[in-house]
Amino acid sequence: MTGCMRGRWWLCPGLVVWLAGCQTPPPAPPPQPAQTGAAPAEPAAPATPGKKLVVGFSQVGSESGWRTANTESIKSEAARRGIDLKFADAQQKQENQIKAIRAFIAQKVDVIMFSPVVETGWDPVLKDAKAAGIPVVLSDRAIKTADDSLYVTFIGSDFVEEGRRAAKWLATKMNGKASIAELQGTPGSAPAIDRKKGFEEELKAHPGMQIIKSQTGEFTRAKGKEVMEAFLRSPEGPRIDALFAHNDDMAVGAIQAIEAAGRKPGKDIVIVSIDGVKAAFEAMVAGKLNCTVECNPLLGPQLFDAAEQIAAGKTVPKRIESKEGVFDETQAKAELPNRKY
Ligand code: AHR
Repeated sequence: MTGCMRGRWWLCPGLVVWLAGCQTPPPAPPPQPAQTGAAPAEPAAPATPGKKLVVGFSQVGSESGWRTANTESIKSEAARRGIDLKFADAQQKQENQIKAIRAFIAQKVDVIMFSPVVETGWDPVLKDAKAAGIPVVLSDRAIKTADDSLYVTFIGSDFVEEGRRAAKWLATKMNGKASIAELQGTPGSAPAIDRKKGFEEELKAHPGMQIIKSQTGEFTRAKGKEVMEAFLRSPEGPRIDALFAHNDDMAVGAIQAIEAAGRKPGKDIVIVSIDGVKAAFEAMVAGKLNCTVECNPLLGPQLFDAAEQIAAGKTVPKRIESKEGVFDETQAKAELPNRKY
């Protein structure tokens, strides 16, 4: 028996064309597959009129201000559209995400979405989702897999580019000379891997800029503070004159550590971080943070546009990126009132 005959509708690319050519379609045609290509301009109609779309979402956790804003955007957008959202918080554990995805499969949800805590180790559970005919959307973080048919689309940021932007800004600010401390995000996560990659790639053009300390601060304020304290106490501590934090929360924690060590954040140590949350803008206005590279957490509308289109058998692109900017201390005061997260 083929995958199509077992009801794995989104695995049958020829079905759309076949149905379009038939005078009398078979009774109750299933929703159609989503393929890569251009996104339709119009919002999709529900696959079965009157039936609520059921979406299972496995969230990473609540480690940062960014994540709080992301969760809020997903929940409020689902409520606004009348989508039945089954939301599970994985508390930073991959095994919890796998359990949640298996539960969504058992509940036969229409679409599964998740924000993978780490990049690898998803193939077995995603193969189960594929076998059950349930399309998967990756939110915010990508995965590493040899089989990209295991998900329909990825919606989120270009983390490598964010790392490059942070390094470019820092190189200009420091005139190409800096002894940098780096606070990395969650080990194995796409944003930690990619931001580091982009930052280091750009540093190659600036031999006077070197990373002299680097460790994970796990994307949290508390850990960012703790690790920065250790950096400052280390033999290299007095030489640190710049900080690259993979997110704003760790930068805010590091600011506290720098002040406690009797140095001036934003002056003695120039700080660039990523996300663009309100707390970062407030720190810039206070002169304690110098730059934040924006990473947009308000993905709810794009995610549910995609879910509705997929359920209605429409085509969505394989990768949908959010548009983001870079804000430094000179723009912070004017931009602060506009920040939505
Ligand atoms: O995946 C996005 C990253 O995860 C954000 O930059 C960080 O703050 C969050 O925890």
